[in-house]
Amino acid sequence: MFEPWLNLEMRPIDLRSDTVTKPSPEMRAAMAEAEVGDDVLDRDPTLARLEERVADLLGMEAALWVPSGCMGNLIALMLHLRRGDRFLAPAQAHVLGSELGTGAWLAGGMPEALPWEGGPGRPTPAQVTRAAGAPGPYYTLRTTLLCLENTHNFAGGTVTPLADHRVLVGAAKAARLVVHLDGARLWHAAAAQGLPPAALTEGVDTVQVCLSKGLGAPMGSLVCGPKPAMAEARRLRKMLGGGVRQGGVMGAAGLVALDYLPSLAEDHAKTRRLAEGLRGFGISAPVPETNILLAPVPDAALALQALEGAGVRALPVGSAIRFIPHRDLTLADIDEALGRIEPLAPLLRGA
Ligand SMILES: Cc1ncc(COP(=O)(O)O)c(C=O)c1O
Repeated sequence: MFEPWLNLEMRPIDLRSDTVTKPSPEMRAAMAEAEVGDDVLDRDPTLARLEERVADLLGMEAALWVPSGCMGNLIALMLHLRRGDRFLAPAQAHVLGSELGTGAWLAGGMPEALPWEGGPGRPTPAQVTRAAGAPGPYYTLRTTLLCLENTHNFAGGTVTPLADHRVLVGAAKAARLVVHLDGARLWHAAAAQGLPPAALTEGVDTVQVCLSKGLGAPMGSLVCGPKPAMAEARRLRKMLGGGVRQGGVMGAAGLVALDYLPSLAEDHAKTRRLAEGLRGFGISAPVPETNILLAPVPDAALALQALEGAGVRALPVGSAIRFIPHRDLTLADIDEALGRIEPLAPLLRGA
């Protein structure tokens, strides 16, 4: 494959995602030394420890390790939905557009996107109430689930503040909806508000969190909820091919990843620094709420090509460029990226 930066004797600065991090030496050591069992036959002790720790952190009764965030969300949707149901989610939610429609064709729910009238990445409680509607004739869809996303990836890592979370869950419950929270980056939402992660799961029936986004684990997510639901989730994980044997090797990585939670604020600071730098060049960049920055540009394909050529890797989100600083980059790397971007500024600001 042609990779333009290879011509430049320049180390690429990879801002495509917070999933590009490599396991740290201490994480690799913990993986090598992990106590393991067989998590399909009975339990893997290290995965069991991780599940307990995450359930505790999130104030949920139980947790189940799964290989990916997509599988965690799908298992939750399969727990909650029956064919003929409808589920609601904020527009551009990961479960709507980035999980290959599995909420519909595997979990059986008809998705409905709610525009962001409550703030970036979230609907208002009134929208939830309206969309839930009243039970109709037997041939109409039953709206049974609200799926929230905090932070909201494609809105630019935006946080649903605790007060908004509460009223949204309240509206869902009043309309007899079950609530699932896609918390792939719930840790970031909590860090941004100075809250314990458990504060942001208030009232939800299930939540999915990732250890591979910003926390350095090579893989792994947890789906959390009541004990009986998690027993059923274990069956669904097996059904989807996600049963693992010596999963403790990944569980150990997950336990180390949780130790990195206190450093997430540093990634948020790197993202703010990047945004300030871009604004200094006249490039449009909002003040990021967490670790994701969406910079709208006149021509995303052209801008990405130029960035790649300068050794700065990013991804498109609609007509914007998405930058995600992470733990494998320092503030000096962000400054280096800014130095590489400066000559390209006319392209990114369209002047
Ligand atoms: C909000 C959100 N949910 C779910 C996922 C899926 O996670 P995974 O890539 O581990 O399947 C992602 C991935 O980036 C995400 O951003």
